[in-house]
Amino acid sequence: MDYKKIISETINIEGVSQEEIISSITLPKDLSLGDFALPCFKFAKALHKAPNMIAEDLAKLDYKGAFEKVEAVNGYLNFKVDKKAQAKQILDEVIEKGAEYGKSNIGAGKTICIDFSSVNIAKPFHMGHMLNTSIGSALYKIYKELGYNAVGINHLGDWGTQFGKLIVAYKKWGNKEDIEARGVRGLLDIYVKFHKEAEVHPELEDEARHWFKNIEDGNKEALDLFYWFKDITLKEVDKIYKRLDVTFDSYAGESFYNDKMDAVVEELEQKKLLTDSEGAKVVMFEDDKMPPCIIKKSDGATLYATRDLAAAFYRKKTYNFDKCLYVVAYQQNLHFKQWFKVVEMMGYDWAKDLYHVAHGMVSLENGALSTRGGNVVFLEDVLNTCVEKAKKVIEEKNPNLENKDEVAEQVGVGAVIFAMLYNSRIKDITFSEDKVLSFEGETGPYVQYTYARCNSLLEKCGDVEGDIDFEGINNDAAAEVIRTISKYQDTLMEAAERFEPYLVTRFVVELAQGFNKFYFDCNIANAEQGIKNARLLLTKAVKQVLQNALKLLGIQTPKKM
Ligand code: ARG
Repeated sequence: MDYKKIISETINIEGVSQEEIISSITLPKDLSLGDFALPCFKFAKALHKAPNMIAEDLAKLDYKGAFEKVEAVNGYLNFKVDKKAQAKQILDEVIEKGAEYGKSNIGAGKTICIDFSSVNIAKPFHMGHMLNTSIGSALYKIYKELGYNAVGINHLGDWGTQFGKLIVAYKKWGNKEDIEARGVRGLLDIYVKFHKEAEVHPELEDEARHWFKNIEDGNKEALDLFYWFKDITLKEVDKIYKRLDVTFDSYAGESFYNDKMDAVVEELEQKKLLTDSEGAKVVMFEDDKMPPCIIKKSDGATLYATRDLAAAFYRKKTYNFDKCLYVVAYQQNLHFKQWFKVVEMMGYDWAKDLYHVAHGMVSLENGALSTRGGNVVFLEDVLNTCVEKAKKVIEEKNPNLENKDEVAEQVGVGAVIFAMLYNSRIKDITFSEDKVLSFEGETGPYVQYTYARCNSLLEKCGDVEGDIDFEGINNDAAAEVIRTISKYQDTLMEAAERFEPYLVTRFVVELAQGFNKFYFDCNIANAEQGIKNARLLLTKAVKQVLQNALKLLGIQTPKKM
């Protein structure tokens, strides 16, 4: 029920628009005053009357039976919602819509490209990419839920001199069977070895450059190896995406733009935006506010920024996006600022539709993450450890659970995703396996457990049958839960608007906490049938909304834990 709308439609004051009335309505902090309040001071001039008299007159109007009480107090008009009617209306809607509850078509006809995860070929999928992948995928799903045409793009890091190094390393020290068996770990070993050896034998760097040139020139041996590395990496990464419930619409990575950069460079040239700088071609910025954006190196090689420019033009042409988001760590702030500005300088007004959705860094509680020396923490290992730990807890608490392995996977992986999406994206995260797996506090297992609790309750008590006495949920704890449920769709919209999936995570926590308070306050199983029905209805609705919201975050909902 849109209470504000009902109020604005009922009150008719000359010279005061409905919008003005809606925007004047406040939500009192002290709920004993009412659920909505309208200050009448503003209308005194138009009506030539004292505010409290106006409030008294307006209190007599008929507000379509939406309110239990409408009262004039000190120049304010206070509205008290009919709690039982409101509860019925909201819960009925959740049950009727089921998995569709929260969906909207507000985004119909609008396209949002989301560049996320964007892992690097032949490099480990580590915790930093986990944060990125979780945020991007949640945004992707939230946008879809709101009816947008969301396009998920994995802008693979599949170009660069490191592939030349890898070929040299493979030809010197590589072992095919080992790499086929150990995948990226095998590739990482020889890559690390290359760096060590190159310190003593700098000529290796020349060889690497030579082999990279071979890739660029389309030499068959070089390309075969390059595609093999790519294949191995993608197979591994796809396994992880499956576990995280992440999908993409495009895997067009950096190499995809090899033949699309000349056009960009030419256009920059034509628009007189390129400056020569010691043989390199760069775009300079006004007042030198930013360092120049390098477009081409002196040896003719293109750069990360050149590829991003080519990719942006390609995306605009292919998808005609309304917005294009880049979910990438804040370390790359300057990079995005620079090339977004270049698009603007080229005269494209859609430069304003490019957004760097920056996020923080992840470190592990015990031990730093670094790629160079080879002491990286593979995401796969973190996920596996969390799943094992979840399994142990299940063995202890619920040894007779049927599908223990499946549930352990859902809890372990869910815990990691939840931890990634718990805070505003810009915050750095210190990750602790034990903390994220705790069943107490604001964690994945806690909300999953609440879901399972709803489920067991419904299994034990059976479905709602017969008359529902809404008096059963006419109390503060239930009202709080219903109030939370009613905020669900607004939460999704705000999350989409601010690119902040954590708002959905916090919503889930609020709902779970509210439900648990209700569960401990109100007897459900032994209540009289009508009352019990109302409480079961609420339980059913909570279960549904938890599921809908968790799904958007990529978190599974085991029925039993
Ligand atoms: N592969 C890059 C990295 O891991 C991220 C790419 C982000 N996307 C982009 N269009 N630049 O740092």
